[in-house]
Amino acid sequence: MEEKEELSEKSEQPDIQLFSRRALLRSAGLGALSYLANMAPAIGSPILKPPKNPPVQRLGREGIQSPVAGPSIGIDLECFPTTVPILPGQETQVQTYDARVVTGDPTRVQDMPGSYLGPIIKLNKGEFTTIRFKNRLPYEHTIVHWHGMYVPEKADGHPRYSIFPDETFIYRFRVINRAGTYWFHPHPDMTTGTQVLSGMAGLMLVSDHEEQNLPLPRGDYDVPFIIQDRKFLFENQIDYGGIPFIGYYGDRILVNGKVNYEHACASRSYRLRFVNGSNARTYKLGWEDGSPMILIGTDGGLIERPIEKPYVVIAPGERIEIWKDFSDYPVGTELKLKNLEYSGWLLGFDEQSELTAGSEYEIMTFRVDRKSNENQDLPEQLTKMNWLRWEDAVNRDNPRSIPITWQGMWLLNEEFFEMDGVKQNEIVRPNTTEVWEFTNHTGDLAIAHPIHLHGPQFQVVERTIQEPYRKGWETIRHGYTDEGWKDTVLLMPGESIKFLIRFNSYTGLFLYHCHILEHEDEGMMRNYLVRS
Ligand code: C2O
Ligand code: CU
Ligand code: CU
Repeated sequence: MEEKEELSEKSEQPDIQLFSRRALLRSAGLGALSYLANMAPAIGSPILKPPKNPPVQRLGREGIQSPVAGPSIGIDLECFPTTVPILPGQETQVQTYDARVVTGDPTRVQDMPGSYLGPIIKLNKGEFTTIRFKNRLPYEHTIVHWHGMYVPEKADGHPRYSIFPDETFIYRFRVINRAGTYWFHPHPDMTTGTQVLSGMAGLMLVSDHEEQNLPLPRGDYDVPFIIQDRKFLFENQIDYGGIPFIGYYGDRILVNGKVNYEHACASRSYRLRFVNGSNARTYKLGWEDGSPMILIGTDGGLIERPIEKPYVVIAPGERIEIWKDFSDYPVGTELKLKNLEYSGWLLGFDEQSELTAGSEYEIMTFRVDRKSNENQDLPEQLTKMNWLRWEDAVNRDNPRSIPITWQGMWLLNEEFFEMDGVKQNEIVRPNTTEVWEFTNHTGDLAIAHPIHLHGPQFQVVERTIQEPYRKGWETIRHGYTDEGWKDTVLLMPGESIKFLIRFNSYTGLFLYHCHILEHEDEGMMRNYLVRS
């Protein structure tokens, strides 16, 4: 009912302003790239106005407290501009989030230690969560999306719920996700990329009974790292110029908002959670001493049992959890985490920055600076995976198939993003299991795309590579993390994938898009509608 109202209301008010930039792109083709490269709005500049009369139900009218059965937590969150020291000399202008607990245990909101990123919001499975979000940016509209969390449509941070400066949006949802590393970031139409670049990214760590009963490292030994790349201009300001075709590439790697990041650790085992919060850059992570990467978790939490890999690949939006026992190293050791070489990524566009995507470079350093008397062994089993079954999929004989294509800009399902538009093949029934297929067959204009779905986590069941692209694929694929629940999945050029996904009873519009944020902003995003 409600979705329909929004659909018809919107269709009477096509947003000319938003449409025109994409229409330009549609007709412009590659020739417009250099022009477009200069189009990224400067931070704080009022270039992009929120759509007029968006069909937004401003949730201010809903109360923050409602009687609920069971544990609940209430949090105030806001975003605002500030300046922080990143490089020596002049401070850098950024935009960031801050939060505090208004109902419940105050320690559930924590700062990212020493970082302007964050904060970290800690939730428990089953908890009724109310987040009152205030936009304190001076000029820009924005909305927050909880990446990886399966929440009702109105709490999902769809761009049509963007709020103006000084407005408040109230999110209410029950945590139904497994324990895992989720994150949050802005999701306004067309400016997600620049807002994330400006520093808006935080963590939402979910815990549950199963995880709490496992002998895993906790507290100081369970550490999150958000990896990003940036380019800085004179006076240390962030350079927002990116090429929409390939996405934004910086020439400096930042971890938790800092360059040359070092983490001092004890000689014992750690649970390391990595989030790729970069706009476009994918990392092929490996230890400099060649020791294996021990994968214990993916986007949707812990995997069944730890797996040793030569390296692990993490595309924009993805998370991985790695087990590392530093008791193998003498105190004083500096162990680097590196990006390892790969190819076939951006065919013909590999030299996109001074820090070429597929070259070897340092991400961060772990410095073992103290002896530890206690340690923990890696559990053999972490969870029991609830594998979805192909035969349960309602469309098992006819997978929903979404192509990636090029038409002056990257497209999904052969159409640009429309604020509340859905095509016939984008309508899903609630309480069903489905097979979805994505194909990245775009001929000579071939680059890799990380595809992300809002809503449920899914399980990758099949990957196929076209022969001419096999060589590059072989330098990446051993680092895929298809052993666990995922919400973001990388497709190399020439690759196609199928995944199984189970929708619950939440109805409404949910997004799927490329998590190269410049692609998303330029329209490589679509809705799917869950409707009974
Ligand atoms: Cu992390 Cu719709 O995005
Ligand atoms: Cu998401
Ligand atoms: Cu893309």
